[in-house]
Amino acid sequence: NNLDALYRQVIMDHYKNPRNRGEIMNDALTINMNNPSCGDKIQLHMKVDNGVVSDAKFTGEGCSISLSSASMMTEAVRGKSVEEALELSGIFSDMVQGEDYDDEKYELGDIEALQGVTKFPARIKCATLAWKAMEKGLDPENVD
Ligand code: FES
Ligand code: FES
Repeated sequence: NNLDALYRQVIMDHYKNPRNRGEIMNDALTINMNNPSCGDKIQLHMKVDNGVVSDAKFTGEGCSISLSSASMMTEAVRGKSVEEALELSGIFSDMVQGEDYDDEKYELGDIEALQGVTKFPARIKCATLAWKAMEKGLDPENVD
């Protein structure tokens, strides 16, 4: 249907024109995350200042779903507090697993384009790869 087609366009746009692809030079956290089902790996680079994610970029290789999701995720978490970013990750995870998700607390924007992965369970891990990296990086033990 039309919504599926729109979502597919949004995903392909992020895949072909990734936002925030690259490294962060100074004092960034780098988190490596791989998808065991396919072997693809991404690296997430983040800066956290005073409890706020001030920058987030990614490098690495993966499929269109994983890379577009990384692009969307880095956009979504920039400027958010650690708490908000983690909460958003929980909402995203609910969404891609086909559970009820809170679409009111945060402006979800392009992220919602990935809800179609619920129809392709093997791709859910692709969609959550970058988000898991973000969760790992924002674990209180890793953040000063
Ligand atoms: Fe098969 Fe991602 S692991 S599509
Ligand atoms: Fe490897 Fe999607 S197939 S991350």
